Amino acid sequence: MSTSQFPLPERTTTSTGNVVIDGPLPELPTGRAIVPARAYTGTEEFADEQKSVFSSGWVWAGYAHWVAEPGAVHPVTIGGKPLLLVHGEDGRIRVFHNSCRHRGMALTEDPMVVQGRIQCAYHCWSFKLDGTLAAAPYYTRERRSKLDPEVAKRLSLLLVASHTWAGMIFVDLSATDTDPQACADDFAAKLEPVLGRWSHIDFDRLHLAGEKKFEVDANWKLVVENFLDFYHLPFVHPQVGPVTASLDVDDVALHPDIIGGSYPRGAAGKAEKTAKSLPWLGDVPADRLERQDIFCLFPNALVFLEADWFQVIGYHPVAPDHTVEYMAIFVDSSAAGDDFAETRSQLCDVLWEVNEQDMPMLHRLQIGRNSPGSDSTNLVSHWDQITALFQDRVATKAGYR
Ligand code: FES
Ligand SMILES: [Fe+2]
Repeated sequence: MSTSQFPLPERTTTSTGNVVIDGPLPELPTGRAIVPARAYTGTEEFADEQKSVFSSGWVWAGYAHWVAEPGAVHPVTIGGKPLLLVHGEDGRIRVFHNSCRHRGMALTEDPMVVQGRIQCAYHCWSFKLDGTLAAAPYYTRERRSKLDPEVAKRLSLLLVASHTWAGMIFVDLSATDTDPQACADDFAAKLEPVLGRWSHIDFDRLHLAGEKKFEVDANWKLVVENFLDFYHLPFVHPQVGPVTASLDVDDVALHPDIIGGSYPRGAAGKAEKTAKSLPWLGDVPADRLERQDIFCLFPNALVFLEADWFQVIGYHPVAPDHTVEYMAIFVDSSAAGDDFAETRSQLCDVLWEVNEQDMPMLHRLQIGRNSPGSDSTNLVSHWDQITALFQDRVATKAGYR
């Protein structure tokens, strides 16, 4: 399947006219899991995936609002590597390896706001927000040691390829070119199918309505698979609307790394989330006003777009059976004021509740992965082609075939 041409062939088989794609699954259940159960429980597999999945290609690292002002510094761990998200004095967000250029000490373990310099606690070397070494006390054992500019440059913090889009910061740990324009070009080329599909949205107008952290007792792959599983909606989240609306969803696979689904009438057919309507995120064409798009930007940005709100679940895998989700909800900046405070909080409450309801499901999915039965599960072609595509992507990247 990894050699498939995208977009994949579509066929319409449902009585409601919904689109099902021809994915990796055959018509008849096979009784063979695409990703073995050990990949959800094993520490070796977890460590290998940190390299094969999270250390190459664009990976969600965090939110731009975590480093909202110049001097804001926020540590994260991606692909097992400590990184620092830094908002520079020039307004740019940069990402560095969180490792002092002297003895390699992590510069901070906690988010903070600094005055122009990030200082290492060990020998007090300090770095400017663009990463260059600003001072290294007693560097030459002299009281007033002067740093040679060439040496200061050589001892700059190590930059990581990064790009900020739609309130999210992405990194590519395998990229050698860290130049911002090169990063922007590469990101645009790789994410083109979704950037094009959402070109009517003005992501510069996003206003954070709320953010919530979820500690999930499950492997990161289950988090994604659950997000891509539209079949469970009427059973686990009955409050979102009638069964017909919950199941009125099309498979969408724009690219091997951009897969999910779309509810053509989801915004209208499901239950109202807020008493008062929110302004649209940009100039939304009439035929998209009712649509809900749900995509996994492989591997770890799970995005949900409606005409008037945008939801992201970014997550960091912590252990084979533990994942930390950071769920954020954005609305248009014209809904940032007090007049929309109640509406924003209603929207957040509805969306938090849905995610909360998934927690026990994820926990039990994880427990099930310790059963030999989990090597002979049966994804079904009518519902699970998108999940199968995700698993196929993992299996190819992590070498489970
Ligand atoms: S390790 Fe950071 S200054 Fe020495
Ligand atoms: Fe769910």
